[in-house]
Amino acid sequence: MKIAIVPGDGIGKEVIPAALSVLDAFGLDIEKIPLEIGYGKWKRTGSALTDDDINLIKDCDCVLFGAITTPPDPNYRSVLVRLRKELDLYANIRPFSPLKTVKLPCAKKFDFVIVRENTEGMYSGVEELHEDAAYTTRVLTRKGCERIAERACALAKPRKKNITVVHKANVLKSDSFFRDVCTGVAKRNGISYNEMLVDAMAYDLILRPEKYDVIVTTNLFGDILSDEAAAIAGGLGLCPSANVGDRYALFEPIHGSAPDIAGKGIANPIAAILSVRMMLEWMGEMESAKSISRAVDNVLQQGIVTPDMGGSYSTVDVSDAIAKMVNR
Ligand code: IPM
Ligand code: MG
Repeated sequence: MKIAIVPGDGIGKEVIPAALSVLDAFGLDIEKIPLEIGYGKWKRTGSALTDDDINLIKDCDCVLFGAITTPPDPNYRSVLVRLRKELDLYANIRPFSPLKTVKLPCAKKFDFVIVRENTEGMYSGVEELHEDAAYTTRVLTRKGCERIAERACALAKPRKKNITVVHKANVLKSDSFFRDVCTGVAKRNGISYNEMLVDAMAYDLILRPEKYDVIVTTNLFGDILSDEAAAIAGGLGLCPSANVGDRYALFEPIHGSAPDIAGKGIANPIAAILSVRMMLEWMGEMESAKSISRAVDNVLQQGIVTPDMGGSYSTVDVSDAIAKMVNR
């Protein structure tokens, strides 16, 4: 297995080495290819991501990604969005099942996963900027809707065999298209479905998160709802994600590069470590993946946590404690 390692900028440079120390504890046969991508590289070279970087990544099986700061360049196009497109990572899987030990703002148990379409919608890249107007074309194709719905159904099969399709079909034609394709795929797969308008979903997710299981939605709605979900699941510092396609995958914490706390050694490494757990699942290393969840729960129980969770431990204290506990 060959993994491209992209720490990126800010706290990405702290949480990715921390997460790697946990991965290393398993002694798996993994080749790591470190790559410099992001704002730092843009400042140094004028380019945040080169074609060579893309080719090196395409020579790997998957990517472990930290976070990237957006350079102050009007022509800048997000590195992450480009990577998702180039590698055709059409499904962004974001699980929200808080660990037992995490104190939640809503005191309710829940376990749902947001399946976000990751290559089209408002992120299609079809844009025009004029003097007096700006346009973004929201592209939804049948192929794009079908494959994300198929992913959601596949995830729903071993779970509750139900998907919630989130859209704004009362206003947007592209969303009634999305809804119809998704519900068609669900029927074909023998999966039950319900639908929610995205604004109602934003409201209900906070009040009744326990009602939901597999949520499937378009790109920007999924972006917004997953940050909201992170807030009710204990914070961005805890939430991992997997960007997957049919050939490649990229694993990243949901959080960004957090320049305000970068370099202080206090960033919470758990989201990155749980992203490694998702990577191990993708590789089929199920036992190792489970042992990460157990170790994280254990370490949280012992109160070895970073300041965002009310502790006074450092990034490395937390990852060392987890790395010592995995594989046992
Ligand atoms: C995310 C981020 C990205 C997105 C940004 C950094 C391009 O917010 O992964 O959720 O909008 O998808
Ligand atoms: Mg986001």
